[in-house]
Amino acid sequence: MHCRELPLALFVLMFISTSEACTSRFRITAVEGEPFYLKYCSSLPEHESGKSAVRWYKSSGSHGHVELSPSSSPRIALHGYALEFWPVELDDAGSYIFQRGNDTHNWKLNVTRRDKNSCFTKKLVVSRTVEVKQYLQVTCENRYYQNLVNRTSLYKSLPNHWDFYSTNDCKKIAENNKNPFIQKNAEFKDQGFYTCVSSLYHNGKLFNVTKTFNIAIAGDRNNINPVLFGPEVNHIEVELGKDVQLNCSALINDMDLVYWNVLKENGTNPNVYEEEGMRISTSEGKWHASKILRIENITENNLNFSYNCTVVSEGSVDTIRFILLKKEDMGDIPGHIFTRGMIISALVLVAVVCLVTMCVMYRVDLVLFYRHLIGRDETLTDGKIYDAFVSYLKECGPDHGEEHTFAVEILPRVLEKHFGYKLCIFERDVVPGGAVVDEIHSLIEKSRRLIIVLSENYMSNEVRYELESGLHEALVERKIKIILIEFTPVSNFTFLPQSLELLKSHRVLKWKSDQYLSYDSRFWKNLLYLMPAKKVKPERDEAEVLPVLSES
Ligand SMILES: *[C@@H]1O[C@H](CO)[C@@H](O)[C@H](O)[C@H]1NC(C)=O
Ligand SMILES: *[C@@H]1O[C@H](CO)[C@@H](O)[C@H](O)[C@H]1NC(C)=O
Ligand SMILES: *[C@@H]1O[C@H](CO)[C@@H](O)[C@H](O)[C@H]1NC(C)=O
Ligand SMILES: *[C@@H]1O[C@H](CO)[C@@H](O)[C@H](O)[C@H]1NC(C)=O
Repeated sequence: MHCRELPLALFVLMFISTSEACTSRFRITAVEGEPFYLKYCSSLPEHESGKSAVRWYKSSGSHGHVELSPSSSPRIALHGYALEFWPVELDDAGSYIFQRGNDTHNWKLNVTRRDKNSCFTKKLVVSRTVEVKQYLQVTCENRYYQNLVNRTSLYKSLPNHWDFYSTNDCKKIAENNKNPFIQKNAEFKDQGFYTCVSSLYHNGKLFNVTKTFNIAIAGDRNNINPVLFGPEVNHIEVELGKDVQLNCSALINDMDLVYWNVLKENGTNPNVYEEEGMRISTSEGKWHASKILRIENITENNLNFSYNCTVVSEGSVDTIRFILLKKEDMGDIPGHIFTRGMIISALVLVAVVCLVTMCVMYRVDLVLFYRHLIGRDETLTDGKIYDAFVSYLKECGPDHGEEHTFAVEILPRVLEKHFGYKLCIFERDVVPGGAVVDEIHSLIEKSRRLIIVLSENYMSNEVRYELESGLHEALVERKIKIILIEFTPVSNFTFLPQSLELLKSHRVLKWKSDQYLSYDSRFWKNLLYLMPAKKVKPERDEAEVLPVLSES
């Protein structure tokens, strides 16, 4: 430091120390109800100026100057170069004049109403702007009242962007007997109103002095190169007829621009809409900007077209592209639904197969049950007399007595007595004598079925006519159906007429004498199934158990 500068520096220091709390501005605003003072800024310390008296005047319009003394108001005190109000009120507003010898100074005081809803009065704030990341200090130091202050609290209110003047959410952030403060590197969240409330006692009475700073944080002035988020080319899978939103977002500087390059003039993009952009500030004073491009009711025209989004900054440009692709059809069905569908189909298939198998296996039972259920009777209108003509070996030799018994005793017992059919058994129903051949023919014509009890020995001259007549009726006239009962296993069917061979596989029942003991057995069910449907009342007086043939 040069010697010439020393006196100047000393003078500045001195000025600061003596005038630290003096009132240099001409227009002053105070808040009603708070302690307030006006202090003359003198270059000389107060104690050195004791020779000439200090006088204070208030100029109240037409009344001229009124000299102020402690006796003129209990709220006024004179303290060296200072005029103190305990507290200042609305009617204290006006011009004040300080006089000491030839020195005069005057101020214009305005007193504003207290804001009852808030911890501070919005008309009385000190605004400061701090750049982000720079040093931010808020201190409540109040040098003039320093020695009187009992306790000071620091409150913070967030700025309300929508209604600046409605801020009233005062939160106490620090409390200290003397001087609460904050010191930090500024961040955007530090923005807001900081209010110091100092409580002090004067003559045993409590007063509050408030001081409010409106701190604004300014963005970093060093620009970044803005970049768009995401890959340079984005392929988006879409479905025709649906809507899609393309989100273009970037980290940008205050003055940068993000926009979609979509031309609407020539009507190429009638279903494409650029939405309002969105900006969120970051703690570094930059912005997260995003802009949506909405494509409604996607058509083929929107596919394979390059939708470009650009960010422009002072020194750079960045572009990303979005291309819509048609979603594969397979993708239409979400995987789990597809799997579920397959499982359900398989189950249904299995159920159907089971049902069909059951129906095939129990076809006979189902048909019988169905006949019983609806009481079907196909014998009423055909004009026939017998339900079946029984054709069997009539020679009663020792080798084939069982066949005879079966045809003449067991069949009638079951079919006639138990199930109510009417059989025609030649031996029983035809009176001996007369024209046998004609008789047989007319009896077969009057029967609905021809039951042939078949064995190796069956083909004899006696039955030949029955058989041929029946086959004629069955195959040519189609008026009778033939039921073959294979009584003894027949290994060789060649002895039968070839036309009978045709029927063989369809209507052959195998009789096994030792197995068919009950009316419910499969043999009788199958026989009933082949017999015409008939509504009859079975005669239940017969024994339910059939005689075992081998015993008879
Ligand atoms: C502050 O006020 C309390 C209660 O009125 C008193 O006890 C205390 O001494 C005061 N402190 C100062 C520094 O004046
Ligand atoms: C002073 O401020 C305190 C809160 O810091 C408040 O409780 C008290 O009522 C205030 N007193 C006056 C006279 O304003
Ligand atoms: C767009 O993307 C940005 C950044 O990924 C995100 O903050 C914003 O919420 C998104 N906008 C919409 C509408 O999804
Ligand atoms: C988008 O960018 C690509 C490649 O830079 C360009 O070929 C295409 O024409 C652009 N599309 C639009 C609509 O500007």
